[in-house]
Amino acid sequence: MNQTNITILAIESSCDDTSVAIIQNGRMLCNLVAGQQIHEQYGGVVPELASRAHQQNIVPLVDVAIQKAGISKKELSAIAFTAGPGLIGSLMVGCSFAKGLALGLNIPLITVNHMQAHILAHFIDEPKPAFPFLCLTVSGGHTQLVRLNSYFEQEIIGKTIDDAAGEAFDKAAKILGLPYPGGPLIDKYGKEGNPLAFEFPVAQMPDLDYSFSGLKTSFLYFIQKQVSQHPEFISNNLADICASIQHAIIKQLMKKLILASKQTGIKQIALAGGVSANSGLRKALTEEGHKRGWKTFIPAFEYCTDNAGMIAITAHYKYLDGEFSPQDTTPYAR
Ligand code: KG4
Ligand code: ZN
Repeated sequence: MNQTNITILAIESSCDDTSVAIIQNGRMLCNLVAGQQIHEQYGGVVPELASRAHQQNIVPLVDVAIQKAGISKKELSAIAFTAGPGLIGSLMVGCSFAKGLALGLNIPLITVNHMQAHILAHFIDEPKPAFPFLCLTVSGGHTQLVRLNSYFEQEIIGKTIDDAAGEAFDKAAKILGLPYPGGPLIDKYGKEGNPLAFEFPVAQMPDLDYSFSGLKTSFLYFIQKQVSQHPEFISNNLADICASIQHAIIKQLMKKLILASKQTGIKQIALAGGVSANSGLRKALTEEGHKRGWKTFIPAFEYCTDNAGMIAITAHYKYLDGEFSPQDTTPYAR
C-alpha cells in the first residue's frame, strides 16, 4: 500500500452511466463517464440492458482512467464503489469489479452510499460549505432535504412521498413525446418559453415533504385535452409548455427549501443530484439566496449528474476515518 499519497480509484454504476474517477489526496485526477444511449428508445432505463452495458464499459474505462490520471495501478491505496441505492444488477457489476481489483492489488475496499456522495460532491472544488448546511438533493430516484452536521452525519428532514423531481421531469417529457432522459430537454426547450404561460398545481404537503405524482397527472390530462382540440398543440407551444412545467416543479422544490431554512435557521444552502444541473433551479436558488442572505452552493455540471468523482471524494473521507469494507460486502438496491 502506498503510504505517502492517498490515491483512490472509484467506480459508480448505480443506474445507466458507468463512471470511473481517480482522486489523489483529495484532488481529482480524472472523472470519466460512459453514458448508455441504448435506453433512449425505451423511454426509461432498462435494468438488464444497463447491467450488460456496465459490463462492457467498465474494463476499458478503468484502463483509460489510469492512463489519464498518469498513475500506475501499484500507486492505488484503495478501491471504492457505489454500494447502493440503485439498480441491483448494475450495482453488482461495479461491486464485483471493485472487489476483484482490490483483492488483486491487496488494498482496502471502500463502499459508498450514492445519495451521501451526491451531497459530498460539494467538497471536490472550492468554495466548500461549512457545517451545518442544508442540501436539496434532487435526482431521478430521490428528492430529499438533508441537514448535514458533518461529512457522515446526514439527517433527512424532508422527502418525496411518491415521484422524485427528476422523475417528474422525465415523465412530463415522455408525455410530450421526448426521449429519455427528458429532464435536460425540458430545460433546453424551456429556455425560450414563458414559465407563466400555463399554470399547474403545486401540491400542498405537510411539513417538509414533497409530492409530484399529482402534478404529473394534471399535466397528462392538460396535454391530452389540448391535443384533442388542437393536434399541433405540443409542437406549436413546446417552449411555453416546457418552461411552465419546469416552473411548477421548481416552485415546489423552492417552497420547502425556504421553509427548511426558516425552521432550522441554517442559511448555508446547497443543491445536489442530477436535477441540480437544471438552469431554472440553479437560477432560482441564486436569486432566493440574494434575497434571503443565504450562502448558496451549486456543484459544477460534471458533479451534478451521476459521476464517480463524488464517489471518490466520499471514499477519501472514509479512508481518512479508516472506514473499510470486507470482501463479503454486498450491494443494496434501497
Ligand atoms: O443524479 P442523477 O444523474 O441520477 C440518479 O441518481 O437518479 O439524476 C438523473 C435525473 C434524471 O431524472 C434527469 O432527467 C435529471 O436528473 N436531469 C435534469 C437535468 N439534467 C439531469 N432535470 C432537469 N433539468 C436538467 N438540466
Ligand atoms: Zn444520482
